Amino acid sequence: MTSIPSISLLFVLAMCAVLWAAAPAAPQGKRGIQKLSFGQLPDGQAVDLYVLTNQTGMCVKVMTYGGIITELHVPDRQGVPGDVVLGFDRLEDYLKGHPYFGAITGRVANRIAKAAFTLDGKNYTLAVNNGPNALHGGIRGFDKALWNAVATESREGLSVKMTYVSVDGEEGYPGNLTSTVVYTLTDHNELKIHYQAETDAPTPINLTNHSYFNLAGAEKGNVLQHTLKLNSSFYTPVDAGLIPTGEILKVEGTPLDFRTARAFGERISQLKPNPGGYDHNFVLDGPDGIMKPAAEVYDPGSGRLLEVATTEPGIQVYSGNFLQGDIRGKKGIAYGQHAGFCLETQHYPDSIHHPHFPNSVLRPGSVYRQTTLFRFRTR
Ligand code: BGC
Repeated sequence: MTSIPSISLLFVLAMCAVLWAAAPAAPQGKRGIQKLSFGQLPDGQAVDLYVLTNQTGMCVKVMTYGGIITELHVPDRQGVPGDVVLGFDRLEDYLKGHPYFGAITGRVANRIAKAAFTLDGKNYTLAVNNGPNALHGGIRGFDKALWNAVATESREGLSVKMTYVSVDGEEGYPGNLTSTVVYTLTDHNELKIHYQAETDAPTPINLTNHSYFNLAGAEKGNVLQHTLKLNSSFYTPVDAGLIPTGEILKVEGTPLDFRTARAFGERISQLKPNPGGYDHNFVLDGPDGIMKPAAEVYDPGSGRLLEVATTEPGIQVYSGNFLQGDIRGKKGIAYGQHAGFCLETQHYPDSIHHPHFPNSVLRPGSVYRQTTLFRFRTR
């Protein structure tokens, strides 16, 4: 005869079987680094893809063209992995041109007004690629360079170290500049990006990564329901051409106040002038040059939480305003307006024209360093 305790035991066993079956799929790859071929540039040079997988199954893919992060798989609150960055499946699509998906931007990220500056009494004219201005390093910025890469493993995690030598005069910039960018994936679901550079002549520099995140998953519509929290009390206003006016204003009482978490979409229509959404440099509270919390983004649907810390004085919050649905990304999905957000840790845009902004000039004998950490958790 079946006793009551054994019925409950059977019930518990049955529930365990159901939960087991519903448990997240095992991580795709084993912990380690894989180097794969990702195709060829039109001149025949090979492009490699480095796949870093940590012990929890989080995986980041970075290619040597543009140092571009092509995929970033992180678990949601059920433990199910999802790719949280916008991009393409094939190199050919990146080569056709795109708005800096996942790329390293440099030599100077964001805009330099009128694509010209004077440094130590010398005038420099840069490649023009955004109205009358220079944007993200010019026509052939670091996002289009072929980087040399080596894979390394340390106690900190799995790394790929990329190096690129930008020669004197490239896109109009002075000095031979050697830059290294190290992407490290830790076993604590953190992606650390460390940038370092040296030059043989004074040059402005501002390196960052231009990943577009969608914490629900790259194919899941827009990010307007994600909440953003910023460690920032001030911002640098811009004119109609998105060039800083030189002012540093309080966020208090404006739709730029993210000192407590607010959804991207909540006040986006109140922005004045409205460049179609957020595209602002926020001044980070706390000292420049040492790691400090910068931003937190949370997607209530998936439970994914992204925390960003950086050594940089500023962060460009860009809500994918210029995505218009005409670019078909991974799996052929059209990326519409606000399909992703960028958190570009940086020196303030156009710093070279504003001596009261933190210095962005690198001189021979000095080393440029910036570190940014993207940590993924769930709630
Ligand atoms: C800039 C935007 C620009 C975008 C390019 C962002 O860093 O702030 O103004 O349109 O990059 O995709």
